[in-house]
Amino acid sequence: KKDIIAMGIETSCDETSVSIVKNGRKILSNTIFSQIKQHQRFGGVVPEIASRQHLEAMAHVAEQSLKEADISFKDVDLVAVTHGPGLIGALLVGVSYAKGVAYALNKPLVGVNHIEGHIFANFLENNFAPPFLCLVVSGGHSHLVYINDYGDYEVMGRTIDDAAGEAFDKIARALGLGYPGGPAIEEAAKSGNETAISFPVAHIEENDLSFSFSGLKSAVLNYLNHQKQKGEPIVVEDVAASFQKAVVDALVENTLKAAQLKDVREIALAGGVASNHKLRNELTKRAGDNFRIHFPPPILCTDNAAMIACAGYYQYLRGVKHDLSLNAYANLSL
Ligand code: KG4
Ligand code: ZN
Repeated sequence: KKDIIAMGIETSCDETSVSIVKNGRKILSNTIFSQIKQHQRFGGVVPEIASRQHLEAMAHVAEQSLKEADISFKDVDLVAVTHGPGLIGALLVGVSYAKGVAYALNKPLVGVNHIEGHIFANFLENNFAPPFLCLVVSGGHSHLVYINDYGDYEVMGRTIDDAAGEAFDKIARALGLGYPGGPAIEEAAKSGNETAISFPVAHIEENDLSFSFSGLKSAVLNYLNHQKQKGEPIVVEDVAASFQKAVVDALVENTLKAAQLKDVREIALAGGVASNHKLRNELTKRAGDNFRIHFPPPILCTDNAAMIACAGYYQYLRGVKHDLSLNAYANLSL
């Protein structure tokens, strides 16, 4: 049987990425051009700048990725592209480019859901397979998803306000730690005392698996204002550590609750926040011998096209194909 070479294309936020993946699992290249420097001085991603940067970088990143994989366009069997959710102008660049490539090569085109892509990062370079429970935590999403099989998902819980990554970014900004906030908070927290300040985490209801981080965000902002007004010192490291602990506790608690409900033994993490070591360690510790915890290497947790190529490959195997009228959707749901 012939190998299937997928080209993955990802432009949903501020990373222009193209990856070549063999048979859904083997990464031949995963080229990521990050625009972080262009957005940093604005303290967050500026949508129009993101679109223009994607447009400039797209073709170069694709060529670089083919070169790293040591193949050429004619070797590509399948084109997989993120078509939502994400910044609409950013998504349109990748989708348009993918259509051009698929048309020119006369090869199948598959539109991939970005959240599904994050989940599939767990399959790359290993033989992990469904069923399992996945906590997808990124800048735009906090989802607890039960993956019964490839293409068969049940969203068991999600955030009712801010996403986990969004909370990290907002608090980092308030602490003057810059963008992206997650890695900056994690770094600052290393030298902080996580029990210094007790920040409340919203508990929705006993059997509800929803997340809510806006109350926590307000609590941290109120604390900072309060300290300033009283002229009391703010120990950035302690605030970062205490905030991180509150987020991680909420994530871990609901994840273990969901796993018990489904009676699964395998739990996976995905999305940018999944690269957080406190989250990885805490979940692993509290899971004990009851659950096996999986997480992709950090580079596959944050946005990348390898996960899109992987998800596209399994969609293609299931017979999902799109034509050249494929559109992009800012709010595509899983
Ligand atoms: O998955 P991702 O690259 O993009 C989205 O789809 O949103 O996730 C980016 C998010 C940002 O909010 C960033 O602050 C957060 O992931 N993040 C982290 C860490 N690394 C990235 N949050 C906590 N700890 C980290 N080490
Ligand atoms: Zn993402």
